[in-house]
Amino acid sequence: MTDLNAVLAAADSDFDNSLERLFTLVRIPSISTDPAYNDDCDKAARAVVDDLNALGFKAQARKTPGRPMVVAHYTPKDAADDVPHLLFYGHYDVQPADPLELWKTPPFEPTLKKDADGVERIYGRGTGDDKGQFMTFVEAARAWIKTSGSLPIKATFLIEGEEESGSPSLVPFLKAHVDELSCDAAFVCDTSMWDAKTPAITTRLRGLVHEEVTITGPRIDLHSGMYGGPAMNPIRVLSKVIAALHDKTGKVTIPGFYDGVADLPKSTKKQWQSLKFSEAKFLKEVGLKEPAGERGKSVLEQIWARPTAEVNGIWGGYQGVGTKTVIPSKAHAKFTFRLVGKQNPQKVLKAFQKFVKGLVPKDCKVEFSGRGGGSPATEIPEDNPFIAKSAKALKDEFRRDAVLMGSGGSIPICRSFKDILGMDSVLVGFGLNDDAIHSPNEKYNLSSFQRGIRSWVRIMDELGK
Ligand code: BES
Ligand code: MN
Ligand code: MN
Repeated sequence: MTDLNAVLAAADSDFDNSLERLFTLVRIPSISTDPAYNDDCDKAARAVVDDLNALGFKAQARKTPGRPMVVAHYTPKDAADDVPHLLFYGHYDVQPADPLELWKTPPFEPTLKKDADGVERIYGRGTGDDKGQFMTFVEAARAWIKTSGSLPIKATFLIEGEEESGSPSLVPFLKAHVDELSCDAAFVCDTSMWDAKTPAITTRLRGLVHEEVTITGPRIDLHSGMYGGPAMNPIRVLSKVIAALHDKTGKVTIPGFYDGVADLPKSTKKQWQSLKFSEAKFLKEVGLKEPAGERGKSVLEQIWARPTAEVNGIWGGYQGVGTKTVIPSKAHAKFTFRLVGKQNPQKVLKAFQKFVKGLVPKDCKVEFSGRGGGSPATEIPEDNPFIAKSAKALKDEFRRDAVLMGSGGSIPICRSFKDILGMDSVLVGFGLNDDAIHSPNEKYNLSSFQRGIRSWVRIMDELGK
């Protein structure tokens, strides 16, 4: 039997090298949504594969119609027949770094900085989402193998490269490799802690569906003096659509939108109240003062248990320097809907399209060009034995109980793990609310990285018992 403390000590003593390996990965701009970075995605996949092979995994970068999928298997030496087989999921792709001018250090030059508050943070695109997070698995595996010559469990690592662009290749890939990828459970490192001192296991994720709307008015851009008045302006129409999406209590007005949304059970409401979440502090950190979601629902409920309709971008008309007297031909906007409970992504899309069509006058045309798809919300049963084992390991590391929490974000793969491979997901992550993921100056706390690695060392130990 290898002493757990020896593995933890090995992880700590190699930590500077762990950091260097994370830096190497962050330097590769593996932006999956932009084809200009396809080679970088290949490069990042290759780097992960080489690293895992060097550790004794059988790792490959597998071809898909999109970015490569890293699949790596590890069978422990002299493994008992009943040793559990677990899947570890993360993503090596990252969001675009724009707007570049707002970064204080270059996004793809990872920088370790001790900030004015004395906290050390690793800055760079992908540090918090998800390279720093999934490298905690890799480094924990390294510490185990280095110390004991093996892992205490059978492991499959699945590190995808399209998470930030909707994982289009993942579902077909899972379907084509059911036998290879079905494990006893999936562990996902892509979520947050409760706060910097308190670990968490996320058991609810919202679903997500996208749409893009283009309204066309006149055939061409028009002189706003020659045509202003009689000509319908498509930006005016689109603005009306956007303004009509919510009523004054913050509720979404699309008919049928709330089908499948249940009220929160009293017991859950109580449990969340006991978390003593400071709404004011949460909003203040991002420069806000008052919750804008459904009136009468707490902020945690608004994020964890209620759906939303958001406009993510809007453009059209003249945006250059100076003025231009024009009535544009077209106006565009991108929308997303976060889903909860049993809301059906396709039904929500249809309801939205109908709602928009009802607001478009005769002289305008509307086109929908979202890429479809979408994923429903996920709820993971809290009595799952793997959750109990993880909670124990996290408590041993942090000396505090792990909070069972929800998340407003979406990790669509968790639903597919359940529906296609029949496994539940255990979501343990070490991100923090102020990590600025998807934003300029994304970071991962040095302590998140180090204690994340130590936590997985412990979780692997618990799983192997
Ligand atoms: N890691 C995030 C999801 C997340 C963020 C979970 C914060 C918990 C806390 C993931 O990479 C992500 O950004 N997902 C996207 C969905 C995807 C389909 C683009 C999201 O939630 O917008
Ligand atoms: Mn992520
Ligand atoms: Mn993300």
